[in-house]
Amino acid sequence: MKTNRFALTLGMLLVPAIASLIILTRAPIPATFAQAPSVEPSNELKSELVPVEGDMHEFMEYVFQPTYKRLKESMAISEKDNANWKSIKSDSLILAEGGNLLLFRGSASESQDWNQHATTVRKFGGQLYQAAKQKNQADSEVAYRTMIQNCNACHQDFADGEHQLAP
Ligand code: HEC
Repeated sequence: MKTNRFALTLGMLLVPAIASLIILTRAPIPATFAQAPSVEPSNELKSELVPVEGDMHEFMEYVFQPTYKRLKESMAISEKDNANWKSIKSDSLILAEGGNLLLFRGSASESQDWNQHATTVRKFGGQLYQAAKQKNQADSEVAYRTMIQNCNACHQDFADGEHQLAP
């Protein structure tokens, strides 16, 4: 009986202590960009834009980074064949449309600058896509470099100047 009551008291003390520890040690939401709510069972069927990955770092790492790396390799080839152009069309379209996906990930307070960077990347990613469709080496080079400059401009403003990418 005595041990039971002791265990009960201990439990009553420990549960709130652990709960508050969990709440206190949770990483704070960065002020620079919104932590968008990811797809959850309650909203996975909503007919509106809902991020599948709400964390910007993960979003950049798995959507933008591999695409950029592939694109960089294809762009470095001086005599591009059909397969190279196809790969450039695909990657530039992913990044340009990725610009659209950035539009609902900015924080409300700084959405103007954020959206400006997102739409500029969309614009030059789109120009690269069009140039690649025509297999235009000179135009694709200009659009590619201008797009990367604008990736870097957003990283300058919203990622503490990190991730300065070389074209
Ligand atoms: C609207 C803002 C914005 C634009 C535009 C943008 N990024 Fe980012 N990017 C970020 C932020 C914010 C981070 C840092 C996320 C973090 O680590 O918390 C980031 C991080 C990255 C990283 C580092 C990921 C890692 O795993 O370390 C890469 C690579 C990257 N971006 C590629 C790109 C490319 C390529 C483009 C252009 C085609 C681009 N980004 C355009 C906001 C942007």
